[in-house]
Amino acid sequence: MFLFSTLQVGAENVFKNEVKRLFPDWHAAFARPGFVSFKTGGNVSADTLQTASVLARTSAESFGKIDAENNESLADALWKLIAGRHLFINRVHCFRRDPFPPGEKGYEPGLTAGLIERHRIIVQSCPQPKLFGKNAADAAQPAVPGETILDVLEIDAGQFIAGVHRITDHSPQQDYYAGGVVPLQMPAGTVSRAWLKFEEGLRWSGFNIGADSVCIDIGSSPGGCSQVLLSRGAKVFGIDPGEMHETVLQQANFTHVRRRVREVKRSLFSAADYVFADLNVAPNYTLDVIEEITALAGSRLKGAIFTLKLIHWNLVEEIPQYIERLQQCVKKNDSGAVRMKQLAFNRQEIMAAVRMDCTK
Ligand SMILES: C[S@@+](CC[C@H](N)C(=O)[O-])C[C@H]1O[C@@H](n2cnc3c(N)ncnc32)[C@H](O)[C@@H]1O
Repeated sequence: MFLFSTLQVGAENVFKNEVKRLFPDWHAAFARPGFVSFKTGGNVSADTLQTASVLARTSAESFGKIDAENNESLADALWKLIAGRHLFINRVHCFRRDPFPPGEKGYEPGLTAGLIERHRIIVQSCPQPKLFGKNAADAAQPAVPGETILDVLEIDAGQFIAGVHRITDHSPQQDYYAGGVVPLQMPAGTVSRAWLKFEEGLRWSGFNIGADSVCIDIGSSPGGCSQVLLSRGAKVFGIDPGEMHETVLQQANFTHVRRRVREVKRSLFSAADYVFADLNVAPNYTLDVIEEITALAGSRLKGAIFTLKLIHWNLVEEIPQYIERLQQCVKKNDSGAVRMKQLAFNRQEIMAAVRMDCTK
């Protein structure tokens, strides 16, 4: 069988290497920028790839390519294919491969008016609409566990690939949304694009930040990440030798510690519930910082979310070592405590989330 994944443009070769390491008997097949398909050794669920890979943004079990001149003929071909396979579809995800890396030439992943219209036409022409889940007519609504999703990916104009993935209780949160992209719009007054990646990263982590949380934001300038935390009512200490945006400085819950992280008094870290970091440095430097903070005696830290900058793409090969390093900071038998993923709004970097064990 074949599986396909979408991913960030430019990461195709390192993704193929990642899959080779994870599943040595799979072979890369048809690929385009931002899209790779694989012939697998046997019957494998899309979840298997999606959960194991750091780079796959979304994955599906492939039914093959469809050429269609318009949305109506695409819908017709899709529902015939589904009937032929005796499948029950609960929701449809329409998406496209990225034309550019996120943040480049003004591009951000997610639904477009054209994709929403395509979704409407496919959903309306479904011969078995009774099987659709709640709010399935709304392209932006998330799926729910138990649902089977029909994935309709536009590879090039008039060329599509169809597939399916299932939502389980263990599915990563991105699988619930079309193309693995949580629909986000930067609010007016947002001071940096970092808002997008940390809003997405925080939702992906499942960490519950609220008015009683104390957060440390390392590499906080100009302040998009701090805005994500302040909007949830958290008390935020931003550490950065650079200037914070006026909008952020004016917030009562925000304190700027205008220093490099290594010059900051350690007592500040022992008061933190969550640490965020977004440093434009090599991954091992960020990991040193996170390790030092988690090792602090008396730390009440519940979690850390941070970016690891892939200064060159081959650093992807070091990800298993990064995970191993972080695993030392948390309870040994908590295998899900360290997670890494290249999220849709990350640029050439990955997002890491570490859930701490407060009782160790
Ligand atoms: C990508 S920017 C951060 C964007 C920011 N997270 C936001 O939400 O707007 C990286 C920042 O890391 C800061 N930085 C680099 N090395 C640092 C260090 N050792 N300690 C503190 N900040 C550092 C830089 O000054 C820069 O502002």
